[in-house]
Amino acid sequence: MLDFIIPLIGRFHPLIVHLPIGFILMALLLMYYPKKDKLPILPAIEIALLWSSITAVLACISGFLLYTSEGHAFETVQNHLILGLVTALICLLLFFQLKKSKNLNSRKIHFNSVILVISLMLTGHLGGNLTHGEAYLIEVLPESIQSALGYSGYQEFEPIALEENRWEDALFYEDIIQPILNQNCRSCHNPKNTKGGLLLTSKETILKGGKNGPVISEASWEEGQLYHRMTLPLDHEDHMPPKEKRQPLMEELELVKYWLASGASFEKSLVMAGVTKEMVAPFFIKSAASIYPKVELPIVDINKLSIIREKGFFIEPMNEGSSLLKVSCINFTDFNEANLEWLKEIKQHIVFLDLSRTKINDQVFESLKDFENLTILKLNGTQISGNGLDLLQQCKHLNQLHLTETEVNLDNLKLLNKHPKLEKVFAYKTPAATENEHKVDLTFEVMFGNFELPILPTDSITF
Ligand code: HEC
Repeated sequence: MLDFIIPLIGRFHPLIVHLPIGFILMALLLMYYPKKDKLPILPAIEIALLWSSITAVLACISGFLLYTSEGHAFETVQNHLILGLVTALICLLLFFQLKKSKNLNSRKIHFNSVILVISLMLTGHLGGNLTHGEAYLIEVLPESIQSALGYSGYQEFEPIALEENRWEDALFYEDIIQPILNQNCRSCHNPKNTKGGLLLTSKETILKGGKNGPVISEASWEEGQLYHRMTLPLDHEDHMPPKEKRQPLMEELELVKYWLASGASFEKSLVMAGVTKEMVAPFFIKSAASIYPKVELPIVDINKLSIIREKGFFIEPMNEGSSLLKVSCINFTDFNEANLEWLKEIKQHIVFLDLSRTKINDQVFESLKDFENLTILKLNGTQISGNGLDLLQQCKHLNQLHLTETEVNLDNLKLLNKHPKLEKVFAYKTPAATENEHKVDLTFEVMFGNFELPILPTDSITF
């Protein structure tokens, strides 16, 4: 009946920890208050240290309860836990030392105060990492600093993507189940954050299960915790993923169910497991061909193409035998507006152009406006601010514009309003994304998010 007490106390840990932080800082401020005769404030210092110790011990206890009741893996919390104990112990030590010696100038006292400050900061920092994730502070830094610190951007996982004409070859676990787990579960069940002692990252760890044993039941697939928890009512405390997180799509859940029911094979292909095309159709990569203009152009001469390729461009036909071209500057980072000259001769043929991370700026629109069949344009990670975006109104077939990590703002995006074909603009990590609370009416969709699928009410399971 009173089972809830312990988890409840545990959840007060993030609140309680602030008490020792405050008391310790108070004690230290008093101890190092710049005044010659500190004897009169000695009793106050002792009281501050006493309360530092008491609240630090309370923080340790609540922290320990949180750790056991929420099922964190020991490896994830150990440093925080040990340093928390160290902090509490040093507090106690300092209190007794001072009580006994009544001397604020002893070396031991200075030494222990320094250790106390350091362990307090480290404990707090590690605790913050546990609640907010390790990338919490790094994420907001400019990209250059992030990479200097050795963070190569943190991992995003691709949703399921099957090619319609080759779906039969796809593997059930590798191409379907693991991507579903990546999207919905991995944030809490990975080696750094192992909630419930459960890792959902590989065959071995999935089979191993969590702190309560296997999560896939051999006897009855429905009873295995992996599936069972996903089908509990959304409000149930054991429901996975927890209510506030992205929920699996209906179709994803159906596939997990079918996978388990068909024996949870880690090797079988979709067809071998009896999956039908209807079941996976929602995950087919949308055939992009349809958005490209239907124009009759002569195929570009191979020699002409190889001359252009030698300049550093990546060029390939959209499909075999197609006269439409895909051009990318992926290995041509020195590319600037002037180099667009080189593409002049084939500009009618280019429907896909990727100039991401090159040295272009807003001047590029002046030339791009003449690429009449351009359908997908990628300008991610460039100096573009969007001045002159209205020139792209002349590219009548433009359907997708990628402006992630650029300086575009909403006012400039508005220049594209009423474009006849434009459907999507990707503007993650741009000034426009930070302004997006001021909803503006645009005739195209702007994706400010990290390509994550939006959560629709209909996506959630409501059994
Ligand atoms: C936001 C974090 C979060 C996400 C996302 C999440 N889980 Fe969990 N999961 C937890 C926590 C916390 C626990 C431990 C507490 C508990 O048992 O409810 C847990 C426990 C479990 C357990 C029980 C393990 C055991 O042995 O006790 C299973 C099974 C599980 N999760 C499956 C999943 C699946 C499947 C998904 C994705 C569909 C998922 N979880 C997504 C946080 C999460």
